[in-house]
Amino acid sequence: MDRVIIFDTTLRDGEQAAGGTLNVKEKLEIARQLEKLNVDVIEAGFPISSPGDFEAVRLIAGEVRTPVICGLARAAPEDIDRVWEAVKEAEHPRIHIFLSASDIHLVYQLKKSRNEIIQISRNTVSLAKERTNDIEFSPMDASRTEPEHIYQMLEAVIDAGATTVNIPDTVGYAIPDEFGGLIEGIFQNVPNISRAIVSVHCHNDLGLAVANSLESLRRGARQVECTINGIGERAGNASLEEIVMAIKTRKDFFDLATNINTTQIYKASRLVSELTGFPVQPNKAIVGANAFRHESGIHQDGVIKRSITYEIMDPRTVGIPASSLVLGKLSGRHAFKERLSELGYSLTDDDFDRAFSAFKELADKKKGVTDRDIESLVAEEQRTVSEVYHLDRIQVSCGDRGIPTAAVRLVAPDGRVLEDAALGTGPVDAVYKAINRLVGVPNELTEFTVKSVTEGIDAVGEVLIRIESEGVTYTGRGADTDIIVASAKAYINALNRLLAAKKTG
Ligand code: KIV
Ligand code: ZN
Repeated sequence: MDRVIIFDTTLRDGEQAAGGTLNVKEKLEIARQLEKLNVDVIEAGFPISSPGDFEAVRLIAGEVRTPVICGLARAAPEDIDRVWEAVKEAEHPRIHIFLSASDIHLVYQLKKSRNEIIQISRNTVSLAKERTNDIEFSPMDASRTEPEHIYQMLEAVIDAGATTVNIPDTVGYAIPDEFGGLIEGIFQNVPNISRAIVSVHCHNDLGLAVANSLESLRRGARQVECTINGIGERAGNASLEEIVMAIKTRKDFFDLATNINTTQIYKASRLVSELTGFPVQPNKAIVGANAFRHESGIHQDGVIKRSITYEIMDPRTVGIPASSLVLGKLSGRHAFKERLSELGYSLTDDDFDRAFSAFKELADKKKGVTDRDIESLVAEEQRTVSEVYHLDRIQVSCGDRGIPTAAVRLVAPDGRVLEDAALGTGPVDAVYKAINRLVGVPNELTEFTVKSVTEGIDAVGEVLIRIESEGVTYTGRGADTDIIVASAKAYINALNRLLAAKKTG
């Protein structure tokens, strides 16, 4: 088989990234985009880890029909029951069981012998097999495990019915040739390996997750586990877009293919960045802002003459909009709708009306409205759809002589209008203090970043913040041409997420 199964774990391992918590609605939105991207498997969560995770997996299993929907379980009966409860309504459900394999984990963490581990693995796979045929098994920390033990574990779980065996480089320790050697060794030493798909799951602690994954494909692996933008635990996982585009661009080398609809990559990247609050670095391969920008005169000259001189991929193949036409205040509903659809949005009539009036307001303040402005504006509108508190208006006074003061008006969930004012060390501090007086939820601001969406003095400013309450981090984003307003919106957005999470437990 020369097709590689793309297993996306953005919603599970990706969400394990510190500070990247997503709520149920956001997970469903990402899952829908992953379906458009045509990934083969969505690992939707770790159902036993929290009621929210269980709910998200259950909802995705019920609504996202094309890909396999997978839930993660430790090798324990209660975990398997919980995954099954969450995925059983899926068109194609999968249970993914993991158990530590390396002596480091066995001695210091699990305090079990290798034989006990093999027995537990075999028994839990047999148990899961009573629920569904599609079972994946992962020997955790495989890259630091004696290969002989991995071979024995894999033989036992395949014997018990595992249909995919996944080899994780859990701590991102492997080097491509060595990891590829492990995969090759598996094919040579596990007698029943032809009854399972061999998968790999690489972390990026040494920056080698994509290289290790690609080398494994060369040595026979046919499923690769990855995340959008490479987000994940610690330094992250292998990045989906890099793996997929390497396979596509270097078909001459790999002679492999995927089912991915690459034109949905850019949209998926923006959505995940937007909802997790993890910005994409400008020089990030495939989806970074500079990935297709040519700065040097020699390069620009070459690309103008023939793009192949310095461009190995056409930006349109990853869904980066081709036109750089800028809309302005004379642009009408039709032009705006057309641009939205070129950017991959299909909004309901209500959402479109709201986005269009936000566009008109922005076009009045700003000379040209670019694609990035539109993306930011639509995201801002979508953030306000299910608000708990709504920011109605703010007014600040500040300067090097004055005492920063802010007055804020919010609309409460019951429709009451709430107003208060506060002093602060600066205008943002004053606004946040005034909001705190009205909302009254204790929290600590742990991160605050402002960046402009495009160049120019009239650019839209995007504010990203993180707040912490009872040990949990909540992200908030806001966009406006006025960065104090954007800061207030971001704070309300984070508080709304905090309140919604508390409400659903
Ligand atoms: O990194 C890892 O080992 C994992 C397993 C659960 C597959 O995420
Ligand atoms: Zn992992």
